[in-house]
Amino acid sequence: MSPRKDERSRLITLHPEINIGRLAAEYPLATKVFARHGIDFCCGGGRPLREVCREQDLNADEILEEIGRETAQKTASAERWDHAPLGDLIIHILAAYHRPLDEELPRLEALSRRVLEVHRDKQPEMLSELVSVYAGLKADLEDHMGKEEEILFPMIRQGQGMMADGPIAMMEEEHELAGAALKRLRELTNGYQVPEEACNSWRALWQGLAWLEESLHQHIHLENNILFPRALEE
Ligand SMILES: [Fe+2]
Ligand SMILES: [Fe+2]
Repeated sequence: MSPRKDERSRLITLHPEINIGRLAAEYPLATKVFARHGIDFCCGGGRPLREVCREQDLNADEILEEIGRETAQKTASAERWDHAPLGDLIIHILAAYHRPLDEELPRLEALSRRVLEVHRDKQPEMLSELVSVYAGLKADLEDHMGKEEEILFPMIRQGQGMMADGPIAMMEEEHELAGAALKRLRELTNGYQVPEEACNSWRALWQGLAWLEESLHQHIHLENNILFPRALEE
């Protein structure tokens, strides 16, 4: 199940006027560079790199150089999906992102409640907000993935992606909400820096949430920047 490699997969030239989502689709390792600098490549992928860098006080040329360096040291995670058959991309999204969440979302919920219970006295406001933001995100994601699996993905697999503009717009809106919840979790946890007084459960929770953020950013990027636009075109 690897992306098809043919003459269409020649890389675009790295350029600051190219949209972030396109850079992420064609240079998968660019997502590592974007994550490192806090550049939103999933929901905010529709904007040119130069514009976003200007806003965030970053140097677009340096970011491009970094992408070039990452790409030069190729790894297995550099798989490109922008020209793979859509059915293969859907199978990849389900296996790499949806199925792991079936187990991870409830595990993190139990862990977050345990940390709140035990450490309520230490940082009560932060921990209670974290538990409630996380519970909302979990419920939304479970509902969202159910809709993708039962309605949208079957439509795309049957070649009806062109008629899926309504469901796709709804999924994109829900991605925005998930992105906002992740942002709030990052603020509450101070960028997942483990506090000194943290016990093992607390550490495991921070690690699990940081994994969730990284995984969801990649997951949403593949849907927003590759799967959905291609399905609408086919
Ligand atoms: Fe998904
Ligand atoms: Fe999604």
